[in-house]
Amino acid sequence: MCGIMGYVGEKQALAVVVDGLRRLEYRGYDSAGVAVVSGGQLETRKKAGKLANLESLLGSDPLPESVIGIGHTRWATHGGPTDANAHPHVSEDGKVAVIHNGIIENFAELRDELTQAGVTLRSETDTEVVAHLLAAILPSTGMDLAEAMRLVCRRLSGAFTLVALHSDIPDVVVAARRNSPLVVGRGIGENFLASDVAAFIAHTRHAIELGQDQVVEITRDQITVTDFYGVPAEVTEYEVTWDASAAEKGGYETFMAKEIAEQPKAVADTLLGRVDAAGLLKLDEMRLTEAQLREIDKVVVIACGTAYHAGMVAKYALEHWTRLPCEVELASEFRYRDPVVNVRTLVIAISQSGETMDTLMAMRYAREQGARVLAICNTQGSTIPRESDAALYTHAGPEVAVASTKAFLTQLVACYLVALFVAQVRGNKFGDEISAIVRDLSDMPRKVDLVLDTSEEMKALAAELKDAPSVLFIGRHVGFPVALEGALKLKELAYMHAEGFAAGELKHGPIALLEEGVPVIVIVPSPTGRGLLHEKIVSNIQEVRARGARTIVIAEEGDESVVPYADHLIRIPACPTLMQPLVATVPLQVFAAAMAAAKGHDVDQPRNLAKSVTVE
Ligand code: M6R
Repeated sequence: MCGIMGYVGEKQALAVVVDGLRRLEYRGYDSAGVAVVSGGQLETRKKAGKLANLESLLGSDPLPESVIGIGHTRWATHGGPTDANAHPHVSEDGKVAVIHNGIIENFAELRDELTQAGVTLRSETDTEVVAHLLAAILPSTGMDLAEAMRLVCRRLSGAFTLVALHSDIPDVVVAARRNSPLVVGRGIGENFLASDVAAFIAHTRHAIELGQDQVVEITRDQITVTDFYGVPAEVTEYEVTWDASAAEKGGYETFMAKEIAEQPKAVADTLLGRVDAAGLLKLDEMRLTEAQLREIDKVVVIACGTAYHAGMVAKYALEHWTRLPCEVELASEFRYRDPVVNVRTLVIAISQSGETMDTLMAMRYAREQGARVLAICNTQGSTIPRESDAALYTHAGPEVAVASTKAFLTQLVACYLVALFVAQVRGNKFGDEISAIVRDLSDMPRKVDLVLDTSEEMKALAAELKDAPSVLFIGRHVGFPVALEGALKLKELAYMHAEGFAAGELKHGPIALLEEGVPVIVIVPSPTGRGLLHEKIVSNIQEVRARGARTIVIAEEGDESVVPYADHLIRIPACPTLMQPLVATVPLQVFAAAMAAAKGHDVDQPRNLAKSVTVE
């Protein structure tokens, strides 16, 4: 949830850290802070609000020059977004500074212990206890900072990435992780710590994955990783393939606008290299053997938010192409209901960040029950694919805007690939059938590009509807998850009531919401795909219109049957029924962003949210 950055090297640490925080700000933006060590003194600055507030504080109250520093952008959990609760937190002796991502579950107990020992805590956060615990150990025991960190971590429960600096040890930054993300960047004469690689790819592409319950110490020239008991750990180093410029706005007004525009390429990149010369799928990287795939008797998809909507679409494709039963479950609910999963269950965990705590916990639970877990993920080196039996990466590139766009489309593509691959391996489809579907998929980047042409219409519509109290979305079959996704986008960006329904459910209750002028966005399936499905939704449009709704109809080119019932008609390219979400979602993304902009909201960083939700 929070963005974390640490640096030691030859450059001015403050500039490196603040630049890293700018790239991490999407993780949380309630407050920001930095600490450096200079001339044996620890100096911090922190401020409530976005990073820009901290930058203006640094302008009026500059920090001294330094080659070592840490920085944080916060998404508040314990304690409101105030200056006092902003990180770093400093020990009473002014020597230790700590930043943290996660939740320390036993902090109340530790806080009481510190208070009884006479320590005065100055914030409402769970983090501050760590600064005091480290400070209490260091002078009396002669331990170094990493040893002290290991000792403290053994006392903590919950999820945490911690990064600490000590004024008497001006060449070392120490960090620890449990259930919360942390990557190390290896440079030449400089090293980095960050919540994700975006923070340091402008400086180095060499990254090191940190395992669970590990402590890392970085100096200018050394990186030392151990477990919480000091046992040296083996590390996996990898090359970051993302381009530094991919995490810049590149001339667009918002990251979201850029990421929407990048979707044709993201879809194409996710397909790239996954089809052989015969038009069949090759997903060797998935690390599941054909024998294992043949043993499966059920698929369970777990995910949150937008990724859950991708999972809903996956169910339609999986069941249709493989004839395997598929359940889709919100990851946050999964492990609390005693789900029936076993060695013959394939669990697919979908996550852009690879760090969503709800998904991670659900996935661990599934593995404990013996299920095989396949991660569909966008972030190399993240925890979910690392802890899975198999992984299929989406190639969306860094997604910076909090609202997920290109990650969703690439998750859909990855789901289609997995479903089709399972069908291929299990012999549910003949080779020529597989290659025909692959051909359809390969044409989708072009169709996603075409649908971007609806953007101006969607923006004009948003200008008209910006004061609507509520917007409803309806769809059937794969149009239902698209309706849910359209509503989620509108809620998170435009802060307004928006709901998605299965069109057939309307008459069972929600139709009572309709009154004169309520905008209802209808996702119409292909008329050539499943005739009955199309027919039913045309009736649903008439039902809502008869009750005064203003109908905004998203229908394929050439579908004339909807024309008489559409107050606004948005045309999307014709495509196979199962693949329609790849095009039907795009106008809804543009609409939500335009509604937010029309209302004067921050499109990339909507209130109360964070890109990566690393708490349960
Ligand atoms: O990183 P993940 O894909 O696991 O994230 C899951 C959700 O938190 C995410 O999709 C969220 O719903 C987006 N902000 C929606 O736009």
